[in-house]
Amino acid sequence: MSDPEATKRIRDLRDEINHHTHLYHVLDSPIISDSQYDSLIRELRDLEEAHPELLTADSPTQLVGAVATESFAGVDHPIPLLSLANAFDEEGMKIWHRRAQNLLDDASFDMVSELKIDGLAVALTYEEGKLVRGATRGNGYHGEDVTQNLRTIKSIPHIITDPGYPKLLEVRGEVYIPKSSFQLLNEERTHQGEAPYANPRNTAAGSLRQLDPSVTALRPLDIFIYSLGYAEGGAMPDNHWDTLQQLQIFGFKVNPNNVLCTSLADLMNYFSLWSEKKEELDYGVDGLVVKINPFSFQQHLGSVGREPRWAIAYKFPATQEITKLKRIGLSIGRTGTINPYAELEPVNIGGATIKMASLHNEEDIRRKDIRVGDWVIVERAGEVITHIIGPVTARRTGEEQVFTIPSNCPVCNSEVVRAEGEALSYCTNTVCPAQFARLLMHFVSRDCMDIDGLGEKLAMILIDAGLVNDLGDVYTITNNQLINLERMAEKSAGNIIESIQRSKGRPLHNILMALGIRHVGLETAELLTNRLGSIDRLAETTEDELRTIPNVGPKISQSIVAYFRQQANRKVISKLKAAGVRMETINTNFSEKDEVFSGLQFVITGRLSSMSRSQTEAKIKELGGSVSSSVSKKTSYLVVGEDAGSKLNEAERLETPTLNEVAFLRLLEERPANPAPKHVR
Ligand code: IVH
Repeated sequence: MSDPEATKRIRDLRDEINHHTHLYHVLDSPIISDSQYDSLIRELRDLEEAHPELLTADSPTQLVGAVATESFAGVDHPIPLLSLANAFDEEGMKIWHRRAQNLLDDASFDMVSELKIDGLAVALTYEEGKLVRGATRGNGYHGEDVTQNLRTIKSIPHIITDPGYPKLLEVRGEVYIPKSSFQLLNEERTHQGEAPYANPRNTAAGSLRQLDPSVTALRPLDIFIYSLGYAEGGAMPDNHWDTLQQLQIFGFKVNPNNVLCTSLADLMNYFSLWSEKKEELDYGVDGLVVKINPFSFQQHLGSVGREPRWAIAYKFPATQEITKLKRIGLSIGRTGTINPYAELEPVNIGGATIKMASLHNEEDIRRKDIRVGDWVIVERAGEVITHIIGPVTARRTGEEQVFTIPSNCPVCNSEVVRAEGEALSYCTNTVCPAQFARLLMHFVSRDCMDIDGLGEKLAMILIDAGLVNDLGDVYTITNNQLINLERMAEKSAGNIIESIQRSKGRPLHNILMALGIRHVGLETAELLTNRLGSIDRLAETTEDELRTIPNVGPKISQSIVAYFRQQANRKVISKLKAAGVRMETINTNFSEKDEVFSGLQFVITGRLSSMSRSQTEAKIKELGGSVSSSVSKKTSYLVVGEDAGSKLNEAERLETPTLNEVAFLRLLEERPANPAPKHVR
């Protein structure tokens, strides 16, 4: 880059960064992601390194964080709150480690590895064991006095009771909002018709900056203390690890997942452990902070600019980015559901280029107020599908368009309906080609007919050629048709035909599932075939009768009856039957009487007076039920004996039906054909 070009780019970058810094630190409402911010800083730093004559003291690369706002009294930090350099991979960590080793003449050292909490830094000052001041980091040198607000955080001690405290003590830590509390807070807000908060970090920052501490007190703030600022008039350990233990003794909340590592290999293990487990934590973390343990080594290493050489942030791969939502596309599911998906301006998230994200349904789009043309926060967590968290409303131009599901199917133009109380819209045409192609893919899939070689491309060719118009037609496909159509090798065609023939003998529940009846998954299909034994029997069963089957509710029974009412579906069944596809279970001598608890899951708590725990379990299993050790949404009944434990509370929370001993015994004796769960106390 030529000098004039570099001068211009540096000026533009500084303006842009300053703008984003203000949005982030002062207004608590960023419009670009952290990694996009980081890459602006990196670009600026690289340019300044290449053109040192253009470096100025007020460049954002030379400052820490943002300046304080006017609303609170200013606080000078006697020892500045520094920032951290980042490493993004093992190589970055090795470079950092090697440099420290070199500067320390190859002395060996331990490192404390901590989780990098995604919140905001504060400094708490104690005089004679009493909390006298709490301040935000601000720009690292000057922050804001938010003592009254910090006093509302329950895990911050107002007084240190342990007698060993130094006369003057400053500790530092990260204020955050737990994920679960954040969710509750947002549920409450949406309930009251208020817009949900964007993320826990900014909400924590905003909460700490409330002018009225009683408002802060309502926010679920918490803190982890991660370092000592300074201490005078009292002995403190000479290394970071022991200091953290000492701070814990003083009553500070220190993160329990900190570890002492003796090697880089140890560190890498800790990193991969938390990269995988981080979602299980109830607070956001965006990486590790690694600190060289002995204070004497820290002092020796010192800092470059605003970053100490003795510590580094080792970032987890980014999971969120901000990008533009270009268009909302529609795909048709196998049951005719119209599924909106987002077409995005391609963006790199943690190494993968993301162009599309799921949008679930129209209701979800409306609730999150996502509009076409919006800048949106996109999240990729683990291997699951990328989804959109929400729009960055501050970036709206007014050109964005509210999305509605069209009233006609984009493929076959038939009417689209949305049943009352349901979030999904459906194309009403059961022979919609798009829908049928999906159904066919479902039909041949592994859990259904398990037909190999009939992929999406071939399916579309067969449908377009008019050879397969419904599922029954799969069994009329011939070897010659395949060879002619696809110019397919004879052997492959033969394999497909063989696979189709073989599928005729699949177990009945797989066949039932293959039909694609809405709400009938594998588990339900198994329940139904166990109980009814044949497709014909299922076809003539009424809704009421179906509902007596355990775990078959109104949604499933309605959908089954509606399916068999359709002439087209009955035709498919006859075609399948004529082709020799299995229509009955092999073992049809199933006795309803013996397996009255089939499909029911029991959990037992406390003692029953009439039988032992193992006898109770054996009895339930004998009748076809299952026994689990903990209450979940799948539990059909909690059997409650004497001295019931915490399972009862869990059952109350999940509204699980409970049976006392008398009611349970009655159920065993009566053995009603299909006990419908109800509350008996
Ligand atoms: S130590 C020089 N430890 O990350 C040491 N910081 O980018 C600087 N943070 O301002 C801080 N968890 O807000 C440290 N366990 C942890 C941390 C942590 C989160 C934040 C803190 C700091 C920023 C540095």
